[in-house]
Amino acid sequence: MKKRLNVVLALFLALILLTSCSSGAKDLASSGDASADGKTYKFKLAHITPPSHMWHKAAEKFKEELSKRSDGRIELEIYPSSQLGSEADMMQQIESGSVDFGFITAAYTSSRSPSFAAWFAPYAFKDLEAAHAARESEPAKKILATLDEQGITGLDYLFAGQRVMLFKDKHVKKPEDMKGLKLRVTPSPPMQDFYKSTGASTEGLPLPEVYSAVQTGVIDGMDMDLDAAITNKYYEVAKYGAVTNHMVWPAVAMVNKSTFEGMSEEDQKIVRESLKAAADYAVETRSGQEEEFRKELADNGMEIYDIDPELFKPYIEEFDKKYGPTDPLIQEFIDSVRK
Ligand code: BEZ
Repeated sequence: MKKRLNVVLALFLALILLTSCSSGAKDLASSGDASADGKTYKFKLAHITPPSHMWHKAAEKFKEELSKRSDGRIELEIYPSSQLGSEADMMQQIESGSVDFGFITAAYTSSRSPSFAAWFAPYAFKDLEAAHAARESEPAKKILATLDEQGITGLDYLFAGQRVMLFKDKHVKKPEDMKGLKLRVTPSPPMQDFYKSTGASTEGLPLPEVYSAVQTGVIDGMDMDLDAAITNKYYEVAKYGAVTNHMVWPAVAMVNKSTFEGMSEEDQKIVRESLKAAADYAVETRSGQEEEFRKELADNGMEIYDIDPELFKPYIEEFDKKYGPTDPLIQEFIDSVRK
């Protein structure tokens, strides 16, 4: 009888232990507060940009909103500037659950889940707000859901500026002027293919190597966003800045799938709403900064100008023709944004 009682007690204790561990290592002891299930969390979020970049500011907003909406139960530690490694490392950490959240470039994400390449359809959005709105479309949501099979939940997209072109000493006024130039373009096939179609060649240099590569003439220019152009002082080494805004530059907000699914529905809602607040904040802030950034670059000696998007029409068509047929989701996305 006593032995049976011990077995029942052991089973009971194991059940309690299993239930309390259901949200993974980040699920700390119950705080006993008035929340839906009383659980407290200390999550980690990693990304590659420095604290001055909009994605980091969005991460801080996400942290603030999580804390506010959960009465302090959900805490977030942010690791910027690739402190936890490259994006490949970070995504692996998110998959394994050693890091909970990430803001990972759609460029890198597309190397793991190809339909994210759809976001690099050139000149697909009239402005940043239009891209921000497109993140709520069915194709954009289906693209996020492709991360599921990797043990990751894709939650949302965050936008910093759009992509522009900086040239060391050639005043490029039309796509044909890029022929023969060696340009740094993020190592993402859709981004690089767009440049290659103009006759430029591309180098997939990581960000920290770009400044000296332009300075020493290893490359003739780069694809960049205005925030990073200022943060990294590229105006010191590149004379011309064409504010083409030819592609958007989303970060994919993602979380370890079992961590997310282990949260109560109410807490999942808090996460989604906090992220939406961060995404709205980023786009509202960044949209209003275009003029200020152009002026800052010009004040630092860069010649800032526009190129008529119509001149890129043949290259846009070439992109759509090449990438649409590679994946039904990319085709669906392109059809929805070009209509
Ligand atoms: C880039 O690799 O071009 C980049 C990465 C993160 C933020 C901005 C630019």
